[in-house]
Amino acid sequence: MQKLEQLYEGKAKKVFRTDDPGLYIVDYKDDATAFNGVKKGTIASKGIVNNTMSAIIFEMLESKGIPTHLVKLLSDRETLVKAVKIFPLEVIVRNAAAGSFSKRYGMEEGHVFTKPCLEFSYKNDDLGDPLLNDDHIVALGLASEEQLAVIRDYALRINDALKEFFLEIGLKLIDFKIEFGLCDGEIILADEISPDTCRLWDVKTNEKMDKDRFRRDLGNVEETYQEVLKRVKNK
Ligand code: TMP
Ligand code: ASP
Repeated sequence: MQKLEQLYEGKAKKVFRTDDPGLYIVDYKDDATAFNGVKKGTIASKGIVNNTMSAIIFEMLESKGIPTHLVKLLSDRETLVKAVKIFPLEVIVRNAAAGSFSKRYGMEEGHVFTKPCLEFSYKNDDLGDPLLNDDHIVALGLASEEQLAVIRDYALRINDALKEFFLEIGLKLIDFKIEFGLCDGEIILADEISPDTCRLWDVKTNEKMDKDRFRRDLGNVEETYQEVLKRVKNK
């Protein structure tokens, strides 16, 4: 399968057309940004970690009945995916308080919730990705009520599968962000699941094993991404 022209370049990935209109190639970069692009940097080999890890996780989710865009891993940094139209929604699932939740509501990071907390924000950099409730989503025409019900159900099932997966490799899943797309009228999981898009804390030490090391200048960024990939691959 050959890469044709570039369709899109995001903060962490490039998307290319292929000779099949139903398939795209995603190419993962080492570029890292935070705080809506205000902080910029590079995390060496991050593209390799995120590409490989996403493929392994999407395959696991497929085995549990979650439809995803994954077709196949092509190389260290490239994956063949189904072409989708992305819902402009960041679907965030939180198992414990952290990050923007802690800041907004004043709850200490690490406070475990009695049930998962599902949150949506509008994927719109110019507006600063504002929080959305279900009515906002329908009013803005970002998804229908029926589509939202499917997205909610998938998000919670993905949370259950990911929590178990990460716990088996000594990582607590604090929260994560996912994105969905439409492919032939079907809602499928798209984008990536990686240390860029999850908060993962080591079970024994509570050490942060994710992009917060970059966001908060905690050091050992590259080493941490490599360690997470090693655990995921050895599972
Ligand atoms: P938050 O606490 O900053 O809202 O982040 C919640 C989760 O979403 C966390 O696991 C990091 C992830 N995330 C992204 O993947 N992309 C983003 O642009 C942001 C802000 C968060
Ligand atoms: N990726 C987002 C940005 O650039 C934020 C983040 O992951 O913290 O700005």
